[in-house]
Amino acid sequence: MTDTQYDVAVIGAGPGGYAAAFQAADLGLRTALIDQDPQLGGVCLLRGCIPSKALLHAARLITDAEEAQVFGIQFGKPQLDLAALRQRIKTAIIGKLTKGVQTLASSRKVDVIHARATLKNATTLTLSGSESRELSFAHAILATGSRPSIPASLKIDDPRVMDSTSALELPDIPTRLLVIGGGYIGLELGTVYQALGSEVTLVEALPRLLTGVDSDLVRPLQQRMQRRFKAIRLDTKVEKLEARKDGIAVSLTGQAGNTTEVFDRVLVAVGRRPNSEQLGLEQTKVAISPQGFVQVDHQRRTAEPTIFAIGDVAGEPMLAHKATHEGLIAARVIAGRQAAFDVAAIPAVVFTDPEIAWCGLTEEAAKASGQAVTVARFPWAASGRATTLGRNDGVTKLVLDAEYGRILGVGICGVGAGELISEGVLAVEMGAVAEDMAGSIHPHPTLSETLMEAAESFHGQPTHIYTSKR
Ligand code: NAI
Repeated sequence: MTDTQYDVAVIGAGPGGYAAAFQAADLGLRTALIDQDPQLGGVCLLRGCIPSKALLHAARLITDAEEAQVFGIQFGKPQLDLAALRQRIKTAIIGKLTKGVQTLASSRKVDVIHARATLKNATTLTLSGSESRELSFAHAILATGSRPSIPASLKIDDPRVMDSTSALELPDIPTRLLVIGGGYIGLELGTVYQALGSEVTLVEALPRLLTGVDSDLVRPLQQRMQRRFKAIRLDTKVEKLEARKDGIAVSLTGQAGNTTEVFDRVLVAVGRRPNSEQLGLEQTKVAISPQGFVQVDHQRRTAEPTIFAIGDVAGEPMLAHKATHEGLIAARVIAGRQAAFDVAAIPAVVFTDPEIAWCGLTEEAAKASGQAVTVARFPWAASGRATTLGRNDGVTKLVLDAEYGRILGVGICGVGAGELISEGVLAVEMGAVAEDMAGSIHPHPTLSETLMEAAESFHGQPTHIYTSKR
């Protein structure tokens, strides 16, 4: 093989692409990992999950310090050094992690190529940018991800209107910030900017935040946000943005009628779209859905036998951990192993304060499909651990098959929900029943007991709740 011939060429070095490349190399395949960005890690590491979680951690330090007074501890007003915060994220967090990915790639002898790749045909890539040449492959894995989608009505050429990428760069802390969209990004970045000092107004076109998530899980978050944000306006749509000297004038239509308000900055967080254009897919048999997703089967094969696709470009949910799992599957299939994407639960986490995490069947989806389920709920008001933290604002619930108590879905709202949900994923994947979870000793005092106690309520009473039987 020459240096232009590969068993596997992976396009895109995010958590899906690099996991696929590493797995392919581990299985003995000659692998190239191609990305146009000078750093490895994709949106997640460079402009998404990782920097946003670092900022959310900083936000949490501020709000925890504010709330420490209930424990008799008073801190002064925080002094914010934005340059130091930006530098920490750039160097100690993103820099460290991207170097780690680079080291892992070279240890595995994965050839990293920094160039833009387009398909010339079903076995050849054209590279452009810092390297201009052709490369041939036996198999390719498309892992090109997604980007913020901004409708034409909200697109104006003014740096005060930000998407998630520019908002993560923390250009400044605006006095008045409007967040458009009550989904993952709007809620997470709204939380960050509010804690750092902005007066945040959030508007959501639909009647609720986080559509698709059970409303009892959203409630504790919404209550806390309503106290911290200037306003949360549901059923409110942004019609138009206009750049003015004194700020961005925003035309809103909602319950309060039509209004125009001025903000110092606007964050547009109304969804993401797959990066499936300008890849040369028209030179192949790869099929695309009307939403722009590359269509794949359970092994992540496209309609072109030599080409696979994984991650955001291959469909919802657009979550890094789903991409990683798909990457491993695609590489194993290419290496001739038996593998398929066959999961019962993909966890989702909104890293707000409190966090919301869920997996498997939701209560509202069960109701909509007429499936007979029992919901076992444990309020964090009854959790000793939550009380020690001063954070009783949470709930843990299990969605169980009504007859046998098989755990079909798990939802948690509360601090640390993102860490707790993995037990739920394991329970759903293993086909556990309520008794399995209730009968597994959970350490005391921890928030994980809320899962055990919710499970106890399927057959009887949880220890820390008493409801009189009439
Ligand atoms: P999203 O789809 O989660 O939410 C967008 C929201 O904007 C929706 O509720 C929609 O009704 C609303 N909206 C649309 N147009 C509007 C308008 N003109 N005025 C007011 N509201 C409007 O999209 P988001 O937050 O941009 O996130 C995109 C994707 O990124 C997510 O679906 C998720 O897959 C991923 N993501 C995941 C994170 C995590 O796992 N923690 C964090 C951030 C993003």
